Amino acid sequence: MAPASGQSVPASEAALGPRHVAVIMDGNGRWAKARGLPRTLGHRAGVNALKRTVEAAPKLGIECLTVFGFSTENWRRPVAEVSELMGLVRAYVESDLERLTREGVRLRILGRREGLPADIAAVVERAEARTANNDRFLLQVAFNYGARADVVDAARRFAQAVKNGEQEPDQLDESTFGSLLCTAGGPPLDVLVRTSGERRISNFLLWEAAYAELVFQDVLWPDYGVEHLQQAVNEFRSRERRFGGIGVHDVLAAG
Ligand code: FPP
Repeated sequence: MAPASGQSVPASEAALGPRHVAVIMDGNGRWAKARGLPRTLGHRAGVNALKRTVEAAPKLGIECLTVFGFSTENWRRPVAEVSELMGLVRAYVESDLERLTREGVRLRILGRREGLPADIAAVVERAEARTANNDRFLLQVAFNYGARADVVDAARRFAQAVKNGEQEPDQLDESTFGSLLCTAGGPPLDVLVRTSGERRISNFLLWEAAYAELVFQDVLWPDYGVEHLQQAVNEFRSRERRFGGIGVHDVLAAG
């Protein structure tokens, strides 16, 4: 997506990464409680923070943003809160689809479609189809998503292919398995951010986060802004990623 200012991101900055940032948008309830407001208003303020983040990400050279909108475990919340979250995703897609389409954003919803109310599934499918050919920025919203469920679904798909005689068990490798997950085709995950001070992954992108940098930020999601995303990017850039190897300084010292 072109930065709103019209300026492009310097190639040198974009090359530093991260390309793909995922966010567990935590703290909406606490934000509302601190103001004596119902939790639902915390989620509404959370949508505004999401809009700010989607706008800021491409300006920092980020190509893909994946956010956790609703987990398979969130069905345990009160019915009214679940229904508010469903309504918010629908309203977000309906209000922002034209702009996202114009700005070259491809929207993709991760997670199990079955179980979603029919009207939400229809809105989501229309938005995905409408933006399918956009390639300037990828926005992935995990909705009715759980990483373990996604791994189980991928395993089932492979088992079914074996049963159909289309695959042999020993043809399964990491790359094939990754291609069966709902995140297939997106860039590798570089950073996983969680807001609100909690330090857990909570069943989000377990496979994809194998070598991601984890960044925990002490800000409640509705207060998240461009400066917080910039901090997460800076934190990523200050880390040395070794992917199981040894650091560049150790390589030099080893001669
Ligand atoms: C966690 O805060 C947040 C969620 C479970 C939902 C996140 C949803 C949004 C930001 C809005 C809707 C999403 C989209 C994609 C339009 P919490 O309620 O667990 O907060 P708490 O831990 O302070 O109670």
